Amino acid sequence: MENLLRGNIKKLQAYSSARDEFTKQAEVYLDANENPFNNGINRYPDPYQNQLKERVSDLKKIAKEKIFFGNGSDEVIDLTFRTFCEPGKDNVIICPPTYAMYKVLADINNIEVKEVILNNDFSLNTNRIISVVNENTKLIILCSPNNPTGNSINKSDLELLLSKLNYIVLVDEAYIDFSDKESALDLIDKYPNLIICQTLSKAWGMAGIRIGMAFTSTEIVEILNKVKPPYNINTLSQQKAFEKLRNKSLYLDILNMIHTQKRLLTRKLKEFTNVEKVYPSDANFLLVKFTNSKFVFEKLRKKGIIVRDRSKQVLCENCLRITVGTEKENKKLIIKLKEIEK
Ligand SMILES: Cc1ncc(COP(=O)(O)O)c(C=O)c1O
Repeated sequence: MENLLRGNIKKLQAYSSARDEFTKQAEVYLDANENPFNNGINRYPDPYQNQLKERVSDLKKIAKEKIFFGNGSDEVIDLTFRTFCEPGKDNVIICPPTYAMYKVLADINNIEVKEVILNNDFSLNTNRIISVVNENTKLIILCSPNNPTGNSINKSDLELLLSKLNYIVLVDEAYIDFSDKESALDLIDKYPNLIICQTLSKAWGMAGIRIGMAFTSTEIVEILNKVKPPYNINTLSQQKAFEKLRNKSLYLDILNMIHTQKRLLTRKLKEFTNVEKVYPSDANFLLVKFTNSKFVFEKLRKKGIIVRDRSKQVLCENCLRITVGTEKENKKLIIKLKEIEK
């Protein structure tokens, strides 16, 4: 692990916050220059989100020491670049078509991006990944289920990469809750270089409070804790997530509704003459290939329905990505598509 760290991070003397230095309960806190008048948010938040971690630990059956939270998964991914990749020198492997933020974050951090395009069936081109890595590769980012294609990575492909390559492998499982395929979470005990990223933004319905989760080795959690801003998850987000994670039955009901709607929407979309293909999806969206995606996109936009144009992404010519909405929203989409089809 030490070899994979950036030189400056190896030497980093982390900031020690007031709440790091005194973690027990006290009667009077005069250590953090806070406003002493209680309004519910006048104190700094817990830098290590202990309560929330206990809840997530219970839910996921993962030890608390193997959990790290970021201000959205986007922060987790950004911190991974900043921890392991030397700007202007190191490179990252990503597999387009995939979540566009990986490249943006690499560009912001001045990390070379090596793109290994997915196979035509959207599976990983493992041979190509193994052949393009070099001595400056530090990170491989995989997305499963993948955005925008909706398919999952074969676990055997992931294990093949983990067994052959000794870099940081980050698997972004933002959509895993929607999938009936197995998560790679159980592999973190076997591979200390593996980071599994999940999020409360999707199935748990908390995109607005920005909580991304990394499940990984304690070694990596400790390093990310040193690199992150001290109070990266604010008090309100910690409280709200803690409260909402208690209601697993609501989460399961919503997942159920989304699954039903996805099946319905898939069936309806396939009936359109201008739909060439609805790709199978393990996520809460459908990648749909139209005969004329630009036309459909523009028409839908004018009718007040916004979908995601992915037609410029490699292997996604004429494709729109459509999130599964409520029954009412999906019906509206179908009505508008019928108007356009004529
Ligand atoms: C694959 C993938 N990862 C991560 C994210 C962002 O997650 P978060 O809201 O936790 O930053 C998204 C958002 O669309 C996504 O599609």
